[in-house]
Amino acid sequence: MNTPVTIGPATLYRGDALAILPHLEGSGFDSVLTDTPYSSGGQFRSDRVLDTRSKYVSSSSAGRNLPDFSGDNRDQRAFCYWAALWSAAALHACRPGAVGMFFTDWRQLPASTDYMQAGGWVWRGIVPWCKPDARPQLGRFTAQCEYVIWGTAGAMPANPAGMALPGFYECPAPRDRVHVTQKPVELLHALLRVVPVGGVVVDPFMGSGTAGVACLQTGRRFVGIELDPVHFDNACERINDAHRQGVLFAPANDAPEQVRLTLE
Ligand SMILES: C[S@@+](CC[C@H](N)C(=O)[O-])C[C@H]1O[C@@H](n2cnc3c(N)ncnc32)[C@H](O)[C@@H]1O
Repeated sequence: MNTPVTIGPATLYRGDALAILPHLEGSGFDSVLTDTPYSSGGQFRSDRVLDTRSKYVSSSSAGRNLPDFSGDNRDQRAFCYWAALWSAAALHACRPGAVGMFFTDWRQLPASTDYMQAGGWVWRGIVPWCKPDARPQLGRFTAQCEYVIWGTAGAMPANPAGMALPGFYECPAPRDRVHVTQKPVELLHALLRVVPVGGVVVDPFMGSGTAGVACLQTGRRFVGIELDPVHFDNACERINDAHRQGVLFAPANDAPEQVRLTLE
């Protein structure tokens, strides 16, 4: 295993999540917040050799110049099997009652709730992320949402602050991206409300490190894993910037929660 990079309260590993997670067993993490490669639509061999930019970025978008990423080429059975393995390894790195939050899309939603449970998590629900700027599809329902499936490592302790969280969030996709499937940091701030301030969050597929940025900006600690060197380097840079800026948002647990999130 490569020596991790430490940036303040963040520890970042470059390598394969399946190889690294077993070394983190018993770490007592408070949450797994991750955005795996979706392997969306990988039914046929021709689908499975597609570059991620042609899958996830429209042909007219500047995002076409961003780097490709690994691991997005499994058919649905292989995806489920692989994801059950990493989600079980992630569970073993968590404390009892830890919260798992895993991103997915409409195609992989049934497979994702299956793999979460196969990995040993207690599946508790689905939080839609609604994108008001999604591309309309003539004569069809617009694929406007991605989803966060969430669950816990066994029983879920009562929230001591008695805070209630929304059942969905509305937020545009980020405009300035360094990763093809980069998530909005504002959305991750909102999801982190379920994790105690000061808690430790692991993201085994951190891409450009958005979950790490959100953790440092809101006073959580972070452990990230990324396979591709180019994305790992981007994550180190973004998390380093966040660390230099310090905690920006310390939401009081009893503050009213927003459903409509605006980009910074
Ligand atoms: C969907 S992207 C995450 C994007 C991230 N949420 C962001 O905002 O930038 C998934 C990432 O997982 C990485 N990945 C794929 N297979 C992996 C593996 N086996 N271990 C660790 N990282 C992996 C990919 O290189 C990719 O950057």
